[in-house]
Amino acid sequence: MRLILTKLFDLFSRYMQKSMFQQVTMINILLLVPLAALFYSNSAAASTATTKPGCQSKCGDLSVPYPFGIGLGTNCSMGLWFDINCNTTFNPPKAFIGTGNLEIISISDEKIRIKNWVAARCYSQTGNITRKNPAWINFTGTPYTFADLNKFTVVGCDDLAIIVGTSGRNFTSGCLSVCLEREDLIDGSCTGIGCCQTPIPKGLKAFSSTLLSIRNHTGVWSFNRCGYAFLGDQDIFKFRTSDFSDEKFQSRTTENVPIVIDWAIGNQSCSEATKSADYACLENSVCVDYDTTRGGYRCNCSTGYKGNPYLSPGCTDIDECENNPCDENGICNNSPGSFSCSCKHGYYGDGKKDGRGCIAENSQFPVIKFSLGFSSVFVSVIIAMTWLYFSIQRRKLVRMREKFFHQNGGLLLKQQISSNGVESTKIFSAEELEKATNKYAEDRILGRGGYGIVYKGILSDERVVAIKKSRVMDQGQIEQFINEVVILTQVNHRNVVKLLGCCLEAEVPLLVYEYVSNGTLFHHIHNSGEMPWFSWENRLKIAAEAAGALAYLHSAASMPIIHRDVKSSNILLDNVYTAKISDFGASRLVPLDQTQVTTLVQGTLGYLDPEYFHTSQLTEKSDVYSFGVVLAELMTGKKPLSPTKSEEERNLATYFIMSIKENRFFRILESRILREGSLEQLQTAGELIKRCLNLKSDERPTMKEVAMELEGLRKYTKHPWNQQGNAEENMALLSEQSDLYDITITGQEFTTSGQGSLYIDMIYPSNNPR
Ligand SMILES: *[C@@H]1O[C@H](CO)[C@@H](O)[C@H](O)[C@H]1NC(C)=O
Ligand SMILES: *[C@@H]1O[C@H](CO)[C@@H](O)[C@H](O)[C@H]1NC(C)=O
Repeated sequence: MRLILTKLFDLFSRYMQKSMFQQVTMINILLLVPLAALFYSNSAAASTATTKPGCQSKCGDLSVPYPFGIGLGTNCSMGLWFDINCNTTFNPPKAFIGTGNLEIISISDEKIRIKNWVAARCYSQTGNITRKNPAWINFTGTPYTFADLNKFTVVGCDDLAIIVGTSGRNFTSGCLSVCLEREDLIDGSCTGIGCCQTPIPKGLKAFSSTLLSIRNHTGVWSFNRCGYAFLGDQDIFKFRTSDFSDEKFQSRTTENVPIVIDWAIGNQSCSEATKSADYACLENSVCVDYDTTRGGYRCNCSTGYKGNPYLSPGCTDIDECENNPCDENGICNNSPGSFSCSCKHGYYGDGKKDGRGCIAENSQFPVIKFSLGFSSVFVSVIIAMTWLYFSIQRRKLVRMREKFFHQNGGLLLKQQISSNGVESTKIFSAEELEKATNKYAEDRILGRGGYGIVYKGILSDERVVAIKKSRVMDQGQIEQFINEVVILTQVNHRNVVKLLGCCLEAEVPLLVYEYVSNGTLFHHIHNSGEMPWFSWENRLKIAAEAAGALAYLHSAASMPIIHRDVKSSNILLDNVYTAKISDFGASRLVPLDQTQVTTLVQGTLGYLDPEYFHTSQLTEKSDVYSFGVVLAELMTGKKPLSPTKSEEERNLATYFIMSIKENRFFRILESRILREGSLEQLQTAGELIKRCLNLKSDERPTMKEVAMELEGLRKYTKHPWNQQGNAEENMALLSEQSDLYDITITGQEFTTSGQGSLYIDMIYPSNNPR
């Protein structure tokens, strides 16, 4: 089971890279000729035509502008790759790219939209595959690339799809879509519950997608029998829960969700192409680079010109005077690319309709008087209306904020606060936070996660805070959110990021945290391993602090909190490198009457407890596993998942265990750790990690045991106090040992926990075999 993730990932990517374009299955694409033979000169002249003379301009309702042309090898297009096969056997006729079977829906100046290919895999009740359609498209060597408007989408409740492709470089990505019950699905939300979406890189030339399943749909067969994967226009596909019962999902998606394709001419950049003989942009047009690294360009008419820039004689002047843009007493003069206005004899002014127009010379005085009188009335009316408008807007805003406040459970929170005597939960106003983040300016963004965006904010009292803007909130989870906010504001541990308050007046709730200035542990492990302060002693200190905080969450609180997403990037470091556990935004609640905690599997690949992944049974031991991975990361300086490494080294947890078993443990440690740690210490730490990473959760130590062992290890260090540390830090080290467990929590028995951007689960003592 442990290997499931690594194995899956590895298996698929290797299998796919190898077999990708050997399958001679579905799409018999554009075989034909090398690009060099494509261009030929074009001398026919047609001033406003969009096609070459003598060529058909439409296939059914579809307009086919040059450089595209209808007919195979008919010289109607700019080259064989732009030939459109209009097959009139169909009624209405259908258009295909070249000799292939990609059906065109529309062609524009920049994009082509084609009918989709949807990969599908259906299962029987016993988990046998009953139907399987792969999907792949290869545009290598053609003027076409997949636009980055497309997203790779997976729909299904037990499905995992891998997309392998190439854009010059190889590209592999995947999406996991799972759910346990139909009720978990959310209309319009494609974030991993029944529907998963992932972007593709710009310039993708070929892809192949393959579907896989974790349990062959045996757990969800009653409502979900097939999994689907496709690339398609992200603006068009909207996930609907009814998709699951739709027999026609595959054909409907094929018809309605197009794949968007970019096209460009040649593989030269504009600067190279303008010098070459077959430069395609004719008179009065400009060259636009498609992609500066991969080459290719398109032509646009210059401003003031219209027509088809690829067809002789190029773009032609727009006669602006046709719909007279000048004053009725003015004269319009058209010139190439532009126009000018002047006034008739006896009038003066700029002559423009939207400018001063033309004024009769002899009516100067009355006009001025009239306009003065008129404008003062006009100005007062404007002022009155503006005032009215703004006061109405203001009232609207106030009402809207009140609405959001109610919607987001403001009253409930107030009630909780008064009944629990919670003083520390501050409710911030939307205005206050908007000001603090400089209207959520881009340069204030500290990080983005799957659950929201974190901004740096400066409150009016100069306090620096981190503000997390959650993603769209599901109404049903308001109560959980409120309870979590209340609980988290009471968690008062020096190694847990403190939640200062929240704001409920915005459409989505905002959470305000203490600001931790020194980045994530992940960053330090993988970017600053050589920094003097990042010694073995200090790593032990950080590990012990983080373990202490997790142990506290697991045991000291009146109801245990399971973090569920323990990873090095969720451990922050402050200015004296004190560890702070973070990411406490969204949680899920465990109703009191439930005896087991079954949840949707959430977490981060590489840190995810394989047993939890397999059974969906969440216990605090899942955090212990993830923390084991963090410890392994701290000792080896390796990332938890390294897809580029050999199979053996790919998954850090597996690699670590193997190394201990095969007595190679010391070889995988970072050299600095080997230098600084004593043999005994390193061995003890290795054994501890091995126990944390045990596949059976029952055999893992508790977080409290881990914390105590790490504390014990710190006492072994050759130099009891950090040499590089300053006095402040030594104070921190001293005080830290005493206050590890002395924090109290005042939370009551809440039936729910929160939701949103942090994944913490609350489990009730009765449910918790401790
Ligand atoms: C048009 O489509 C029919 C039916 O699929 C096919 O048999 C025929 O070969 C196609 N014609 C061309 C010119 O591609
Ligand atoms: C799923 O099906 C595949 C092939 O049919 C089989 O090898 C695999 O063991 C099955 N997995 C489960 C969990 O049933």
